[in-house]
Amino acid sequence: MKVTIDGQSIEVEPGTTILQAARMIGGESVPPAMCYYSKLKGSGGKCRCCLVEVTKGSDADTRPMPKLMASCVTGVMDGMEVKSITSERVLDARKSVTEFLLINHPLDCPVCDQAGECDLQNLSFKHGSANTRYIEDRRTFEPENIGDNIQLHMNRCILCYRCVMTADQLTDNRVHGVLNRGDHAQISTYISKAIDNEFSGNMIDVCPVGALTDKTFRFKSRVWFNKPYNAHRDCDKCCGKTTLWMFGDEIQRVTARKDEYHEVEEFICNECRFEHKDPADWVIEGPRKFEKNSVINQNNYTRDMKPVKIETEKNILLGRDEDRKKISMSEVPLKGQEKKEFKEGNV
Ligand code: SF4
Ligand code: FES
Repeated sequence: MKVTIDGQSIEVEPGTTILQAARMIGGESVPPAMCYYSKLKGSGGKCRCCLVEVTKGSDADTRPMPKLMASCVTGVMDGMEVKSITSERVLDARKSVTEFLLINHPLDCPVCDQAGECDLQNLSFKHGSANTRYIEDRRTFEPENIGDNIQLHMNRCILCYRCVMTADQLTDNRVHGVLNRGDHAQISTYISKAIDNEFSGNMIDVCPVGALTDKTFRFKSRVWFNKPYNAHRDCDKCCGKTTLWMFGDEIQRVTARKDEYHEVEEFICNECRFEHKDPADWVIEGPRKFEKNSVINQNNYTRDMKPVKIETEKNILLGRDEDRKKISMSEVPLKGQEKKEFKEGNV
């Protein structure tokens, strides 16, 4: 089947979607996708970011499609012609969809762990407008604890359903899902059950925004200060192939390896993700290359680089010893301890 996207033609297998065909062509014509995830069955069709204009339905029926189509769930027809980045209508629609997604999403990028690798941040950068027209109150939620490893910030969720599908397709006892509907829809766990399944950590990787983040990495560093390395270990639960996010020789977090569309190559287990933070546990293969425009590339070091030693005063990095002592209050006896020590001293 032949499809032409923004004037570039490609032959594809029947059953290929417009988005998949665009990804085969690559470059600027690839529509953004916030809910479609090639590794998850049935994903897509929720966020409407990937809208395109079909200017010719097929060779058999040359009429254009009247509405903009979600490219992730629209199959290619032989002779189809599509406009993506070259269509004013599409660019307008992407702008509006971005505005809608940001209606309830807080602009808390400065304190969000997803900043720097957030699909919504990238979408807003490309298609967002500088001002909001929204004057109503934003949605708020009571904080909810969904387990030891995953932090849920429901107000950042864009209801893409990726995490629900990950839990459905990767774990055998899904305990969370979308509860309620419309403005009240939210990701939650049934009867406040914790998510402790062996593959539940993958929900962090598939979440396009900062709604599900890694508790073991929380507020440790901005992602662009970390150096990602490909590494592997022998694991009997998953492929064991990961990306280690290092600061110096400290592993600050472990994620699955992601491709240029920010989708994981292979899902990994919770043991690899959360329990192996010692470099000795891993065979480090080398620096990970980031194809996608990313702030992580700010510190791109895939070129040849020598080890760097930071020459600076210890005080600048750690503060003065006496101040640290005061802050830790090591010499101030805690309430209750005083008596005990006094008693013990007298005995
Ligand atoms: S928590 Fe994240 S992955 Fe789950 S539905 Fe919300 S935005 Fe999507
Ligand atoms: S990526 Fe197509 S609708 Fe979300």
